[in-house]
Amino acid sequence: MKILITGGTGVNGAATARLLVSRGQRPVLLDNRVDMSLIADIADDVDIVTGDILDGAGLKELVEAHGITHIAHMAALMPGPAEANPSLAIAIGVDGTLNVLEAARACDVRRVVYTSSNAFVGTVSGKHGHPDFVPLDETLPPDPADIYGVTKVCSETLGNYYRKRHGIEFVALRYPSIYGPGKLARHGVLALYGKVIEDAMAGREFSVPRGGDQRNDVVYVGDVAHSIVLALNAEGLSQWTFNVGTARGVTLKDFAAVLKRLFPDSRIDIGDGLDFREGYKQSYCIFDIGKAREQLGYSPQYDLERGIEDYIASIRKLDLPV
Ligand SMILES: NC(=O)c1ccc[n+]([C@@H]2O[C@H](COP(=O)([O-])OP(=O)(O)OC[C@H]3O[C@@H](n4cnc5c(N)ncnc54)[C@H](O)[C@@H]3O)[C@@H](O)[C@H]2O)c1
Repeated sequence: MKILITGGTGVNGAATARLLVSRGQRPVLLDNRVDMSLIADIADDVDIVTGDILDGAGLKELVEAHGITHIAHMAALMPGPAEANPSLAIAIGVDGTLNVLEAARACDVRRVVYTSSNAFVGTVSGKHGHPDFVPLDETLPPDPADIYGVTKVCSETLGNYYRKRHGIEFVALRYPSIYGPGKLARHGVLALYGKVIEDAMAGREFSVPRGGDQRNDVVYVGDVAHSIVLALNAEGLSQWTFNVGTARGVTLKDFAAVLKRLFPDSRIDIGDGLDFREGYKQSYCIFDIGKAREQLGYSPQYDLERGIEDYIASIRKLDLPV
């Protein structure tokens, strides 16, 4: 198995690469940014290629030259920048995925694992929203509420087409909110779970006026990496789209409670109520992860305490500024 990670130096890419290295693999990381900050500890154990998924010919050459058999495709523009630049979002999120699939087809890549999102289903309401939070399974129809979600629907549709038409094993993993080191750099308000941790580490005051009671499925990047590695390896799949989360809802106040134990002097001021993202289009939800448990063998390894502790340890180990 030789694995290419697109977006390999990003938050999820770096964590996935680290897990693969720990399992004896030497993945190839493709990214259009030169930024070693999240992979400094494994830089000698991976092959790093600076390039763009928009360069279809270059992508094919890379896949061929490295004898790639499996691709974890995660290069994407995040929701804020995507909304600000829809053409670029569609170019990276749709044309880019097409290039990845075409390279896979041309070079007989066996499997492509794609990082999708709850943005696929857009605004979550009714029984799946507050206060009932009936867990979301994979069967809700696509109904994206932002350009980012549109790219996820298009990419999943393209991937499923390539699976049926060309036999490429395309697996889509949908995630709810993710927290992990490095996210603050590109994810804006979506990185608030990381901000409360890093502010506590830095001794800075963290303050949000409302939303402290908002439940949401928030998964640690270590579990994301774990799910991707499972999906790269899983055999005998009878379905190809999986929700991957924690299957439980946590609040910003829950984060604060853990941080208060770890940093008793931290100044965390979180207002009551719901919706700390202030009307941002992506919804809060809780995932039903039954299919991922059953077919991928996935189960969350990081409860909130362990996730926050690992986040802090990773920041310190990588010597990242907070
Ligand atoms: N973070 C979350 O909460 C979340 C939730 C659901 C799904 N996802 C998905 O996970 C994947 C990875 O997200 P992340 O959180 O690691 O984001 P990230 O921004 O840290 O990583 C994405 C990486 O892709 C790279 N990239 C962007 N355009 C590229 C291009 N044209 N060519 C090559 N590389 C390019 C970026 O430089 C970046 O390193 C994305 O597909 C994202 O949609 C993330």
